[in-house]
Amino acid sequence: MKFFLDTADLNEIEEAASWGALAGVTTNPSLYARIGGKLADFPGHIKRICEIVDGPVSAESVSTQRDDIVRDGRELSALAPNVVVKVPTTIEGLAATRTLADEGIRVNMTLCFSVPQALLAARAGARYISPFIGRYDDISEDGLDRVGDIVTAIGNYDFTDATANHEKVEIIAASVRSANHVTQCALMGADIATVPFGVLQKMVQHPLTDRGLERFMQDWEKVQNA
Ligand code: G3P
Repeated sequence: MKFFLDTADLNEIEEAASWGALAGVTTNPSLYARIGGKLADFPGHIKRICEIVDGPVSAESVSTQRDDIVRDGRELSALAPNVVVKVPTTIEGLAATRTLADEGIRVNMTLCFSVPQALLAARAGARYISPFIGRYDDISEDGLDRVGDIVTAIGNYDFTDATANHEKVEIIAASVRSANHVTQCALMGADIATVPFGVLQKMVQHPLTDRGLERFMQDWEKVQNA
């Protein structure tokens, strides 16, 4: 399983990248708004993330009609070679995905909530499919179950994207709210989890690690004083 950071915050991205386990970043309009991002700064901001991260960086189209999504996608992909264009899982998004992928632009189909949506995203040529967990939990449904169904269904086929590279379609578990979400996604075989910085921090923490380290330090102190 690979880990992406789900944020537009440069400090978080720099810090997480320094840990050596970061494979990519996903952003969306809400995450950019959360850091107080301004429209004019957006292209430069995405470029900066692409410089920091050695891996795919998802930047989202903010259009709803296919021609506009395609225009957004071309502009975003021109910012850096590792940009992946995020497109909503709608009819217009599917059509735009097919056009972009045929042009060699990698697409991450987002806001995916069902197996039929995921299957269509794969058939339209998407490189990544992003089912959301937490948004299901928010409406008192089991998001992990839904993502599990999508992982199983996509895994039943050898889907590749529609770019000339024919790269394997990968599932990005998104809207991740806890380290346990990550555990469960790994057990069900999701290719990638995109996580907020706070969840990434929690993933590395364990009280027995802290206690064990403390004991090693104390014992080493005794060795030095022996
Ligand atoms: O990657 C999508 C993600 O940012 C949505 O997360 O917590 O807003 O549901 P959340």
